[in-house]
Amino acid sequence: MAEKIILDCDPGHDDAIALLLAHGSPDIELLAVTTVVGNQTLPKVTRNALSVATLAGITGVPFAAGAERPLQREVAVAVDIHGETGLDGPELPEPAFGVTGGHAVDLIVDTVMAHEPGTVTLVPTGGLTNIALAAARAPEIVERVRRVVLMGGGVHVGNLTPVAEFNIAIDPEAADAVFSAGWEVVMVGLDLTHQALATPAVRHAIRTVGTGPARFVDELLEFFEHSYRDAQGFEAPPVHDPCAVAYVIDPTIVRTVAAPIVVETAGRHTTGMTVVDLRRPAPADCRTHAAVELDHARFWDLVTDALVRIGEPGNGVTERSA
Ligand code: BDR
Ligand code: CA
Repeated sequence: MAEKIILDCDPGHDDAIALLLAHGSPDIELLAVTTVVGNQTLPKVTRNALSVATLAGITGVPFAAGAERPLQREVAVAVDIHGETGLDGPELPEPAFGVTGGHAVDLIVDTVMAHEPGTVTLVPTGGLTNIALAAARAPEIVERVRRVVLMGGGVHVGNLTPVAEFNIAIDPEAADAVFSAGWEVVMVGLDLTHQALATPAVRHAIRTVGTGPARFVDELLEFFEHSYRDAQGFEAPPVHDPCAVAYVIDPTIVRTVAAPIVVETAGRHTTGMTVVDLRRPAPADCRTHAAVELDHARFWDLVTDALVRIGEPGNGVTERSA
């Protein structure tokens, strides 16, 4: 049975690849896509999501825009990594369809409530504003979702600051609410995603697929390679967000450890840090997990297989989003 997911994202180069992986995997049923301010402003990331959906032929999936600012903090976008558009590099098609018109938070709540308890996984790959708002508006979803598999945080690593990862640091209050809500949280953080490097061999395998969507991914990775080299000194770029989708597809690709995790919201130098308690084995009722080890080859196989399956969708998107 395919895993039902809601992808909450801020495309974003790696968010775009996460969306393609979710769409192209036979083991995922993509129920909805929601957008949140993060890598760029909300209008930009929403348009990017719709453009990616258009070029990949994603039809019949509702898209909704969500929070345009963090719960309490000012908007802080990632121009150094994703450029002015949020998806600099490839040429993007005009979106062939629009958002539903409703708010992302409503779409998340309604989608979770419309499915059997324990069947819907939330996959946030941006700041956690929409997810925190959804849990605040409808606390009953906390018991109802299967789990939250999020890209964000880290055990030992930060990127926006020495100890804080971007998705957590841009809205630490939202992250705090999500980590402390009581649902199962799998933190696919930087310790894991820094292993998901798009090496020359990976780039070659993706180019070999030879389709429009595969070329699009290669162009995304080309831009990402330069930004990560310039901004953070990586030889090959870490491709964070699809790691969370990959975990949902096949948890054996990612090794996790159970550990209590809290989010720092008031530190002088540490705001946005995910504090992971590895001092002793986690208590039996611990519901937070940190991803620590990636099977690099199998991860990239999933991404290339998804691109093969997506194929060449053509330009005609006939079915409108619900
Ligand atoms: C995360 O921040 C964003 O720039 C990426 O899309 C990813 O979700 C990595 O820290
Ligand atoms: Ca992202």
